[in-house]
Amino acid sequence: MKYASVAKRLKAYQKRWQTTLRWIEFGGAAAAALYSSLRIARAFPRPAETVVGVAVSVYALFGVGFQTYTRHREDHTFHPLYSRAVVLSGLYVAFMTYHFCALLVCDLLYLFLHRVPGAPPRDAFSMAAAVAALLIVAHGYRRVHRIRIIPVRLRCAKLNRRFPYRIVHLSDLHIGAAISGKHLGEMVRKVNLCHPDLIVITGDILNHGGTYEVQDQEEVESVLKEMQACDGVYGVLGNHDTETPDPNIHQFFSKCGIHMIDNQVAENDTVTLIGRTGILLSGGRVSLQSLMEHVNREKPVIVLDHDPKGIREASQCGADLVLCGHTHAGQFFPCTVFTQILYGKTGSHGVGQLGKTMSVVSAGTGYFQTPVRIGTDNEIICIDLEKGSGGAGKDGPECEQPHGVQDAEDGDADIGEYSGPHSGEAGRAEDKDQHLDREGKDNILL
Ligand SMILES: [Fe+2]
Repeated sequence: MKYASVAKRLKAYQKRWQTTLRWIEFGGAAAAALYSSLRIARAFPRPAETVVGVAVSVYALFGVGFQTYTRHREDHTFHPLYSRAVVLSGLYVAFMTYHFCALLVCDLLYLFLHRVPGAPPRDAFSMAAAVAALLIVAHGYRRVHRIRIIPVRLRCAKLNRRFPYRIVHLSDLHIGAAISGKHLGEMVRKVNLCHPDLIVITGDILNHGGTYEVQDQEEVESVLKEMQACDGVYGVLGNHDTETPDPNIHQFFSKCGIHMIDNQVAENDTVTLIGRTGILLSGGRVSLQSLMEHVNREKPVIVLDHDPKGIREASQCGADLVLCGHTHAGQFFPCTVFTQILYGKTGSHGVGQLGKTMSVVSAGTGYFQTPVRIGTDNEIICIDLEKGSGGAGKDGPECEQPHGVQDAEDGDADIGEYSGPHSGEAGRAEDKDQHLDREGKDNILL
């Protein structure tokens, strides 16, 4: 009885503390948003200054207020207005981020140049900062609507039945208010162009509102069902999939044609798949050691794990390959930098190797909340497992890529070696608008 009352009191304190934190979060963001609006307004002559100031401040407060609200909202029922508000407020948050970066640069320039005869006034620098931020966000918004196919070639001595064996790796679709049928349709079209043997999805298939946030479930089901792979589509849950308790979630995945293998093992004649459920799910994660106890290690053992923090455990258990998502590679600068600090370079995105275990971390096939990608892309990773020996661990997979393979925690390998259309089956990735992008990384951009 005594314990129950203490627990009740603790819960009440926790709730109060969370509410206070939300207000602090909103207060800080609102202050920053108002400062940003003020700097924009002051770049205009009067009386336009007042009109612009009021208009931008209203949009700014809506932007930061709505983004705070979406993270703590409890009713996730879809509404078209909510969907639009998520996009508009997300765009503002991205704008504010870049406006502050641009203001920093412009103010420094002004500091150095303002004594130079003929130097522009401070307001001109403020205007330049706002225009630069707008252009960056416009570029990021354009970029968030494209999906790239990233080819990766891995060699594995254990591959005995069918090779090369093509796995299409998707992650972090975040189907919900911002992502629906159109983005998924484009994704499915490109997935099918890869002609995969197997498709895997490493979590966050749904956004944090679960199926409640999906506008048209039947449409999404029919689009996802179009994904074709001879050995099927397998997935695991991510942290967002179960954020809202949703009894319909498994029925929904099943209607989408996805076999969910959380805490389960699935195998075909070529590979063994081990599904680990989202790392943030309370108490729902079975140890990898117990899952691997009876698996057939003659075939490549592939672990699907939402969070790359599971790579170390997978390596200790002797998995051949781990496929992850979760990080979104930071989605847009400067989050890209923070994500790399938190997860290491190849732990945040790309191909890595830890011991005998290879890892591939996806930047996500969809995006979360802010409809902007800068420095990252929505991606479909097309992995060709090829027969090969030598390299790390003799029996484990070895990655062939020009940048070299580094430790998953502190390495610097980027995803991908361009392998072009599948060597054994010419035309696998054929499309009229296919062209090669050779800027830095060798990718196929469809
Ligand atoms: Fe995610």
